[in-house]
Amino acid sequence: MRAIIAAGLACVAMAAARDDADLPEGPGKAILENSCEECHDAGRIADKAWAKDKWRETVQDMIARGATLKPGEIDTLVDYLATYFGPDNKPEPQP
Ligand code: HEC
Repeated sequence: MRAIIAAGLACVAMAAARDDADLPEGPGKAILENSCEECHDAGRIADKAWAKDKWRETVQDMIARGATLKPGEIDTLVDYLATYFGPDNKPEPQP
């Protein structure tokens, strides 16, 4: 039983490390890591190519689901998402 839990934790740690490496440096990165990876990993975010309006809508949707963001963080995060995961994003195909 203990071995199964340990193996599961190792998988989670590896997945987190991989997703961190994929995230571009920017003012919103820490916000994303702190507020958006509580419920799903960043791969769920990085595979999108959305315009800013769609990101703003999505962030509001996630806040309604329980994401905790300070009011001042929303704009920073939306800018970050629209810059790196905007319509020009060419995501790696997800496995
Ligand atoms: C309280 C839990 C929670 C938090 C925190 C959270 N999300 Fe989500 N997110 C979800 C759930 C649940 C889904 C799946 C929704 C679905 O499949 O309809 C999801 C799905 C998504 C999707 C995929 C939507 C799609 O149409 O494929 C994106 C993008 C996303 N979240 C972005 C974010 C961002 C950005 C943040 C940080 C601001 C965030 N999430 C924080 C719960 C959360």
